[in-house]
Amino acid sequence: MSSIDTLIDADTIARRVKELGAQITADHAGRDLVLVPVLNGSFVFAADLARAIELPLAIDFFGCRSYEGTASSGVVQTTLDLSHPIQGKHVIVVEDIVDTGLTMTYMLENLRTRRPASVQLASLLSKPARRKVDVAIDYLGFEIEDVFVVGYGLDFDEHYRNVPYLGVLRS
Ligand code: IMP
Repeated sequence: MSSIDTLIDADTIARRVKELGAQITADHAGRDLVLVPVLNGSFVFAADLARAIELPLAIDFFGCRSYEGTASSGVVQTTLDLSHPIQGKHVIVVEDIVDTGLTMTYMLENLRTRRPASVQLASLLSKPARRKVDVAIDYLGFEIEDVFVVGYGLDFDEHYRNVPYLGVLRS
């Protein structure tokens, strides 16, 4: 395994996730709330965020994969669909990182066709320098530079997802 330089340590992540959970708790009291983690990268963030939200909620997973072609637009494929309808519910999509924004644009448009009461986005990370399409992030953990990060659910070639902090691979 290559070594990893720490970008954001585990304590800092835990503090920020608790803050996001408290915000969501305040914003969504009394609502029929569904968290929709986007697999695979958001599974660690989603598990911690869900436990930081002090409200009843449902969790339903969604899987999608983004392919980058030679053109500037990517093609996004659904690999796992929700198992329950979201009509009339307040949905928070939980993502690991918004990079170009193509995956989230596809995903949010897809979910909106199902007539939820509202759709919001919680993303652990955002790399604004890489954005190709604007995406509004309602609950953002951290904004980062244009570096490739691993750990806390994020992978490089399916490795490093279990690293408990966010880091950058040392070349
Ligand atoms: P987007 O469609 O370009 O916004 O792609 C978002 C997806 O790309 C994320 O859900 C991640 O799976 C992946 N991704 C983007 N940047 C990174 C990174 O720095 N580390 C690991 N995965 C990344």
